[in-house]
Amino acid sequence: MKKLIVVLALLIPLSGFAAPLDLYIYENKNGTVVFTHANHSKAFNCTECHVQKDVKIEMTKDFAHKSCRSCHAVKKVNTACNFCHNR
Ligand code: HEC
Ligand code: HEC
Ligand code: HEC
Repeated sequence: MKKLIVVLALLIPLSGFAAPLDLYIYENKNGTVVFTHANHSKAFNCTECHVQKDVKIEMTKDFAHKSCRSCHAVKKVNTACNFCHNR
């Protein structure tokens, strides 16, 4: 039991992979973006966005506009700036 706790304690900081939040809020110069992780992860496979199921995403403007906006274009969701950016 002691051994197991030590192993877990080592694994968590190494992977750094926390549980997802239901909502991610990105404040940025172009207007705050609210991303509903809960809805999106019910509708799509994890690997549509994560390189692998357990790989963390570093959100950047490039990632957002390639991943988020491209999928919205393919799925014919509104791609207007203010669909995502609230300003
Ligand atoms: C539509 C895109 C998308 C889908 C589908 C998706 N995710 Fe995510 N996920 C994200 C984004 C964006 C973040 C937030 C990244 C950030 O800003 O920290 C995130 C964050 C996470 C995190 C938190 C990581 C951390 O260390 O902070 C976990 C865990 C996670 N997702 C797991 C999953 C799993 C498991 C699935 C499939 C059931 C899934 N995601 C589906 C886009 C997605
Ligand atoms: C794999 C495809 C896909 C990806 C990637 C994706 N979306 Fe979406 N998103 C959708 C679809 C489809 C809808 C429409 C769902 C509906 O009509 O209920 C949607 C709806 C939304 C909505 C409005 C509804 C809601 O749940 O809030 C927002 C805002 C949004 N997406 C933001 C984002 C952001 C920000 C990202 C990137 C972090 C992202 N999306 C990534 C497919 C995607
Ligand atoms: C599908 C959702 C979505 C759409 C549509 C979208 N964006 Fe974004 N955009 C994001 C997200 C998410 C970020 C946040 C990235 C971050 O926080 O690092 C972002 C970041 C940005 C930034 C960087 C701001 C900063 O502080 O560095 C600019 C500029 C920007 N977007 C402009 C636009 C413009 C202009 C349009 C319309 C042509 C647009 N975006 C459409 C999701 C979207």
